[in-house]
Amino acid sequence: MIPRSFIQQLVGLCEIEDVVSSYVTIRRAGRNPKGLCPFHSDKTPSFVLYPDNQSFYCCGCGAGGDVISFIMRAENLDYVEAVRFLAKRVGLEVPDEGEDSSGQLKARILEINRETARFFYQCLKSPAGKPGMEYLRDKRGLSMKTITSYGLGYAPDSWDSLLRHLHGKGFRDEEMAAACVVAKGRNGRYYDQFRNRVMFPIIDLRGNVIAFGGRVLDDSKPKYLNSPDTPVFKKSRNLFSLNFAKNAADGRLILAEGYMDVIAIHAAGFPNVVATLGTSLTEEQARLMSKYAKEILIAYDSDGAGQTATHRAINLLSDAGLNTKVIRMEGAKDPDEYLKKFGPTRFRLLLDSASNVIEHELEGLKAQIQLDTAEGRIDYLKRAIHILADIKNPLEREVFAGIVAKEAGVMPEAVLSQASALMKKRFSARERQEWREIEQGKANLRDRINPEKAQNLKEAMAEEGILAYLIQHPDQIQPTGERLEPADFVTGFGKRVLESVFQLARDGDEVNITALGTLLTPQETGGLARILARYAGQRMTKEMLDDYIDILRAHKDKLQPGEIREIEPDAIEEYRRRLRQKK
Ligand code: CTP
Ligand code: MN
Repeated sequence: MIPRSFIQQLVGLCEIEDVVSSYVTIRRAGRNPKGLCPFHSDKTPSFVLYPDNQSFYCCGCGAGGDVISFIMRAENLDYVEAVRFLAKRVGLEVPDEGEDSSGQLKARILEINRETARFFYQCLKSPAGKPGMEYLRDKRGLSMKTITSYGLGYAPDSWDSLLRHLHGKGFRDEEMAAACVVAKGRNGRYYDQFRNRVMFPIIDLRGNVIAFGGRVLDDSKPKYLNSPDTPVFKKSRNLFSLNFAKNAADGRLILAEGYMDVIAIHAAGFPNVVATLGTSLTEEQARLMSKYAKEILIAYDSDGAGQTATHRAINLLSDAGLNTKVIRMEGAKDPDEYLKKFGPTRFRLLLDSASNVIEHELEGLKAQIQLDTAEGRIDYLKRAIHILADIKNPLEREVFAGIVAKEAGVMPEAVLSQASALMKKRFSARERQEWREIEQGKANLRDRINPEKAQNLKEAMAEEGILAYLIQHPDQIQPTGERLEPADFVTGFGKRVLESVFQLARDGDEVNITALGTLLTPQETGGLARILARYAGQRMTKEMLDDYIDILRAHKDKLQPGEIREIEPDAIEEYRRRLRQKK
């Protein structure tokens, strides 16, 4: 673990406003500078900096934390990477003598993965790898060059050949299991995870082998077996082949669905291609792509599932600020098959003629509806207007309104005014909804970080008040600790934060969001930023603290019906006395 004192020193040198302004145009208005949130598509400046406690919070998407949390999100890094990133920025050396056991385990897992990839690759080239080689080279038509550059391999049809190989290299069973290349059976014995499969190593941007995908050689199930998340691998944060694609992107990335599509597209001369790793696209992956490209060409399978995934991806990618286009493949189910059937030249034409998203959605709509009847045309119009109402650029909206009008055989002006009316209606519906939620206090009820808040609203608010008070008045932590313990809190989130506050105070450390961030998860740190944002600029008093504590006491005294049933007879008397006293 990096010493907390170092982290405090580092954050002391990284003024949040200074760091954030490399990413966000900050407007100084009043005490707290604001800007458009870089983490969601923001129209009003919802992203606020709180110089007083060096935190940020976006009331639009709920992103929040300290300068480290900001860099984690903006640069898509984990905690330690973000600390290193900031240290580099200010020219500090990160002390690493104290590398903790988790750092050591990660290093061991990476060594195991590298050795495993080497083993699979060697197997593929050896006589024992014949089934794998036949599959990749003869059945899928991959060249030796492609096989080598992707480091593809073959996991032999055996329960322990990798296990024995890694033993020979000095790795222990538990380390291999942590890398998820072996698993532990019910009899307590370890066995190879991947058997009789062709293997695709997943390589990160630093060239580390972080995971594997393995495909069967026939039609058996499951077709692909992928490494689960491990200490060195988060599938929601990585993209297959980004190590090649990032250098070739030139502002443009192709997003395909599968390993084989990526490899085929790359081999056909388009190395700027990536795929997700057996899951649908995530927000983090969209953000990751936006670091290397402005435009994404979606080349998903042409089947129904592929089209649904396309629709989802379009939304995520445009939220990440990416210009998105969709490739329309006819006569093939996926890019791999398309390339085999029609070759790279036709594929390039396909890329160049990729339709923009609106065109794609309108085409999709047309394909579902009979335009040769009056009902069909009305249906088409109604639904097309919903698509048009999504277009923010008025000129573009006008162009597409013209296309829709022509299809439906009506005047363009009529289509355009319908679309504008719908946009207005949607806008005010959204505003109304927001107001209703604010009025009912619902905006606070939906809390992903503290799901218990909804059932215990009053107590959860009191907890938040206590936490904000203690962070504002660190000298009160010790005396408050004598009146209150984490178990007095109702929500798990509150308990964890209070426990961390006490721990820092016990250790004699400063208590602020950065120090708490070393003990909490990034999500919890974000939740804390929201609390700090709410009380920012407000001087909290001792009376407020007392009131909050009273609220928690009252809650504790209120026994639940189930508990009353289980109370011993004399304890009932004690309980009644307590209630009388309160009155
Ligand atoms: N996938 C998976 N697990 C499965 C099936 C699919 O993780 N059981 C993921 C893989 O990443 C795969 C992608 O989803 O690459 C797309 O699936 P599919 O279209 O079925 O695979 P292809 O890559 O087209 O595989 P192939 O051409 O080898 O059949
Ligand atoms: Mn395929």
